[in-house]
Amino acid sequence: MHTRLSVNINKIATLRNARGGNIPDVIKAAQDCERFGAEGITVHPRPDERHIRYDDVLQLKEVVSTEFNIEGYPSKEFLDLVLDVKPEQCTLVPDAENVITSNQGWDTIKQKDFLIGIIEQLQSNGIRVSLFVDPIEQFIEGAKILNADCIELYTGSFAHIYNTDKHNAIEPYIQSAKYAQTLGLSINAGHDLNLDNLNFFKINIPFTAEVSIGHALICDALYYGLENTIQMYLRQLK
Ligand code: PXP
Repeated sequence: MHTRLSVNINKIATLRNARGGNIPDVIKAAQDCERFGAEGITVHPRPDERHIRYDDVLQLKEVVSTEFNIEGYPSKEFLDLVLDVKPEQCTLVPDAENVITSNQGWDTIKQKDFLIGIIEQLQSNGIRVSLFVDPIEQFIEGAKILNADCIELYTGSFAHIYNTDKHNAIEPYIQSAKYAQTLGLSINAGHDLNLDNLNFFKINIPFTAEVSIGHALICDALYYGLENTIQMYLRQLK
């Protein structure tokens, strides 16, 4: 199965915001990522707009020609933005305020009442809904009960353990992904994926529909250039 590479461009906005002005140009960077082979663009607007700003997302809506994935915590402001932009996919993430980066998936059982109406509203606007979850069967089953279209497996713990014990690192992901597949959920993955660990993830879970990668890819682009880097990531997914 083909696994799509969605490039998370938040870090490009972080660099721009460090100086003010418009260098690097986030909109051009998204278009260039697509030109260089990215099959999707991901953004993660946070309430403090410290990287991607709401206004960037509105502008990106006009230019992104591959799959547009907006991820984040479903606050009212976030949902208004997503319903305005109507991306192909919205990935809901249980970010606590002020976290540096996403650090856990949903408890889809405890949060059922909160999520159910949100998921319905997004889907009725033609937006595919993915829920960010840890590789834990009961939360994946919860995603199915909520009628989500996909799960995004939070790969932080895989990446963490990968260097010391990659077989143990991948095991819960293989089990969870197979379970999600039997439930008819599509499987995405993301967080801390990089040129070292991506191919191992892909080989073990070949039916992964999409990976979304930001930090490592943008860091690699400093050394290899954006075009080469995207090609290198695409090769890991072959
Ligand atoms: N998926 C989610 C839900 C995220 O919050 C992030 C980080 O913004 C990613 C994927 C991408 O993680 P990374 O930047 O480590 O590639």
